[in-house]
Amino acid sequence: SHTAHVLVASNRGPVSYEVQENGELTAKRGGGGLVSGLSAIGPEADALWVCSALSDGDREAVAQGVGEDGVRMLAIPADVHADAYNGVANSVLWFVHHLLYQTPLEPVFDAEFRRQWASYETYNRAFAEALAEEAAEGAAVLVQDYHLCLVPGMLRELRPDLRISHFSHTPWAPVDYFRMLPDDIAAQLLRGMLGADRLGFLTRRWADAFTACATAFAGGLGDTQVGVHGLGADADFLRERSHAADVEERIVGLREEIGAGRKTVVRVDRTELSKNIVRGLLAYRRLLESRPEWRERVVHVAFAYPSRQDLAVYRDYTAEVQRVADEINEAFGTPGWTPVVLHVKDDFARSLAAYRLADVALVNPIRDGMNLVAKEVPVVSDEGCALVLSREAGAYEELGEDAITVNPYDVEQTAAALHEALTLPPHDRAERAKRLAAAATALPPAQWFLDQLNALKALDA
Ligand code: G6P
Repeated sequence: SHTAHVLVASNRGPVSYEVQENGELTAKRGGGGLVSGLSAIGPEADALWVCSALSDGDREAVAQGVGEDGVRMLAIPADVHADAYNGVANSVLWFVHHLLYQTPLEPVFDAEFRRQWASYETYNRAFAEALAEEAAEGAAVLVQDYHLCLVPGMLRELRPDLRISHFSHTPWAPVDYFRMLPDDIAAQLLRGMLGADRLGFLTRRWADAFTACATAFAGGLGDTQVGVHGLGADADFLRERSHAADVEERIVGLREEIGAGRKTVVRVDRTELSKNIVRGLLAYRRLLESRPEWRERVVHVAFAYPSRQDLAVYRDYTAEVQRVADEINEAFGTPGWTPVVLHVKDDFARSLAAYRLADVALVNPIRDGMNLVAKEVPVVSDEGCALVLSREAGAYEELGEDAITVNPYDVEQTAAALHEALTLPPHDRAERAKRLAAAATALPPAQWFLDQLNALKALDA
């Protein structure tokens, strides 16, 4: 211990374990911006990633002392983790930052919630203690996301010598919405984050919202610096990976499902309320109703991968997505045409295949920290796709000009935007796609990560 010079802390780590039938453990590596960012700093940096044990396999790996160099998994007791992750982080904090509480769906701050909040504190303390134990003198610690808002403050008390940052991968709630939280909890969250030397956000809009909350409820930012780092798509990785043999294979299968000579509207999401999948389906339905010329000539390829299924609202939403897709197929389908091709089993190669075939990408979240799908599809699409983009996605700040933008609540407008996207003149569409791809890849994950690390180290001077 006390040896790592760069530490990353997040709930979900870069690797997960599964117990096989014969009792053996197999490791599966994850992807994403942090993984490629951290790999860019090289082994000499003595990096350590502290994360939660999430699966039974993860817990077994910790128990057996199995693990990878550079990763430390914390075996937080399962009930404490469930309270912190499901009860506090993914219910209340996620819903507040994404403005998902709208009557009749409201937060409940009862005794049960107070118990969950105590678990959230315990869970954050476990991270702070592990980081304090592992960090070398003066090390840089990069804490990630809404699961770990209290860590910077707790760690600062344990190790005043460290350089601590916190990065939010979500939006930040506006003042009038944030104060839906109990006063003491709102104050504790802000104080926890303001224990950091530096706070990072994906867009100026979320950074300003945080600053407004800190000003309203915590007396300002104090010595904490706020920075904006808009994570971009990893062009090199995507271009290569999307031409691998398994993707080519999926393309053949998808082409059969779509049928020859048809346009393709693609969406790929976790099945998540903030992604607004149901309104996307309703907009597509509206398109088929109001413009019958599109019947038989377009297919909506919707990949909606189940997420956070411990939560009833997510399970209900998953069922609703399926139901609305079925209804559209019942109402409009013909023997040779399935209007909505919905897949729910996560398959990265098939997602890339859909990206390649996309004529239109539909990204219509109610609110989203960034939304990387909006950035990835224009890079990967073979013909250069059009992008229908919600103005409430972080990506809107960078892509808004060349996308066809929508108010995510306005189904009629979204239907009209789909029609416009499907009928863009080929030259216009190709030019827009080129500019979208350039903007989307302006800050690749490695640079995004290094910028934050360097900004944190620069504070030493
Ligand atoms: C969002 C959050 C991440 C989280 C991811 C997947 O992007 O910002 O912190 O890891 O969703 O959600 P999950 O709950 O499966 O980790």
